Amino acid sequence: MNVLLVNGSPHKEGCTHTALAQVAEALHQEQIGTAEFWIGNKPLSGCIACKACAQTRRCVFNDKVNEFLDIASSYDGFVFGTPVHWAGATGAITSFLDRAFYADLNGGGNRFLLRPAAAVISARRAGTTATWDQLNKYFGLMQMPIITSRYWNMVHGAKPEDVVKDAEGMQTMRILGKNMAYFLKCKNAAQQAGVLPPEQEPFVFTNFIRE
Ligand SMILES: Cc1cc2nc3c(=O)[nH]c(=O)nc-3n(C[C@H](O)[C@H](O)[C@H](O)COP(=O)(O)O)c2cc1C
Repeated sequence: MNVLLVNGSPHKEGCTHTALAQVAEALHQEQIGTAEFWIGNKPLSGCIACKACAQTRRCVFNDKVNEFLDIASSYDGFVFGTPVHWAGATGAITSFLDRAFYADLNGGGNRFLLRPAAAVISARRAGTTATWDQLNKYFGLMQMPIITSRYWNMVHGAKPEDVVKDAEGMQTMRILGKNMAYFLKCKNAAQQAGVLPPEQEPFVFTNFIRE
């Protein structure tokens, strides 16, 4: 089993990476493999709502989003990390997730269905819980079970050395990794015991208009 750690920071080896690395270490201790996917620091467009992804299940902009979509199916779980920018997720990870998940929301078939997800937030000081709420909303709509820890998944620091000193934050990351591993093992055991995922109903899309 493998978990993909998506690093939504403009810094490849900054505070967000430091937190994700601690989650990875806990996953490795439970024999779960990991890979880190950095979304980079090049501009990422927001979604232009062209809905071409409904046909192709890829984005019209061929960048990190498609790179991610191409490998996503081979991972059993996901952790998405972001620093806080202006008390919310960064513009880049917001654009990235808007486009990545819309491809499966519109296209039929959902490569993320029942694959667990967690958000990890890094901040110097404030905006962490609002950002955590923001990322969890993607998972809620994509039917991705949300994995939690003993505290909300956050670390504090302006540089990686600060994050390492955030003992509670680092513990929160370790517990998150262990909880993710436990969930994946339970899901695997359920599959082996013949417990099937629920059948998907066709989409009902009402825009709040009743006939
Ligand atoms: C544009 C910008 C906005 C920021 N806004 C906040 C903020 O609202 N609250 C906060 O605590 N830190 C804020 N920070 C600091 C970062 O969230 C913090 O240093 C983070 O741990 C950096 O993670 P990274 O090394 O992975 O980029 C901001 C940083 C930048 C560059």
